[in-house]
Amino acid sequence: KNSLKSAYNGDFYIGTALDVNQIEEKNAKVTQLISKEFNAITPENIMKSMFLQPEENKFDFNLSDKYVAFGQKHNMFIHGHTLVWHSQLAPWMSKIKDSVSMAKMLTNHITTVVKKYQGKIDSWDVVNEALNEDGTLRKSVFLNTYGKDFLTLAFKTAAKIDSKVDLYYNDYNLCNAKKRKGAVELVKNLQKNGAKIDGVGEQGHWHLDTPTLEEIEKTILDFSALGVKVAFSELDISVLPSPYGLQGAEISQRFANNEKMNPYPKTLPDSMQVKLAQRYNDIFKLFLKHKDKISRVTFWGVNDTQSWLNDFPIKGRTDYPLLFDSNLQPKKAYESVISLK
Ligand code: XIL
Repeated sequence: KNSLKSAYNGDFYIGTALDVNQIEEKNAKVTQLISKEFNAITPENIMKSMFLQPEENKFDFNLSDKYVAFGQKHNMFIHGHTLVWHSQLAPWMSKIKDSVSMAKMLTNHITTVVKKYQGKIDSWDVVNEALNEDGTLRKSVFLNTYGKDFLTLAFKTAAKIDSKVDLYYNDYNLCNAKKRKGAVELVKNLQKNGAKIDGVGEQGHWHLDTPTLEEIEKTILDFSALGVKVAFSELDISVLPSPYGLQGAEISQRFANNEKMNPYPKTLPDSMQVKLAQRYNDIFKLFLKHKDKISRVTFWGVNDTQSWLNDFPIKGRTDYPLLFDSNLQPKKAYESVISLK
């Protein structure tokens, strides 16, 4: 097999996130690589509300039109990300104070955007990251003004405009048992309220040792038991320790320990290449075992240069989470994924 998309053809879509540079085809080699390897795309940033509706009723579809045209030209499955999210939110939306104005904003934003790309976008992340780690609903301007039924309103509005597009709930850390249970409840609640939900997206911003394969498998089984599809929507595997939950001094300590792997753009040391490859191999083996339940596996970027993890959550860190290196060459991790087929 000479590409990821041909290797996994018939199993699930293999996608990548695209940001402005790739959408605008700034580099022909990158465009070639994308069209050769991937058959699905997600907009990394450009469809978030701060870009699509920066001011009330002033929509800017310039980049999103280019994004959709890119997908059509290369005959790809085109995903939309994301209609309702507390982050990268248009500033004016964050200032909404009451439920009537919130309902008006949600209805207008979702209606306008979904209608604009009806028949072109194949699936939408309707709501992104609505849950806390303990499985309760996260405090947000949506919850605070409208209450928990903002989810039902969002899904129903999207389905009313385009009955054919697949509608997803998307979140991270769904392998965490409490959050996974929260997501199961969230889906059940939407179903109980008569809203159409077609899938759950597990972002998949993972590490070399966490989550475990058992935990990942549980998310696949729990969500598919609700009758919805499962997508791994933003897959990348950090080779650096997670700074979450650590305090200031500990973060600097861990950061100092990573220094050997930096500075950017040196390549990943060979021993780490092997570990990353093994981790990807294990994960894709599990995906294949459950391919009937999985709709799409999308990497959060094309190559390591593009990865958001290079500056997140600590500025200046270099990470190596994807299948292609900074020179667009396939890493050992690429071989380990494609060799399963
Ligand atoms: C990230 C992008 O990759 C960054 O470029 C941006 O600065 C912040 O957002 N969960 C999501 C994605 O749903 O939209 C986020 O993307 C990563 C975490």
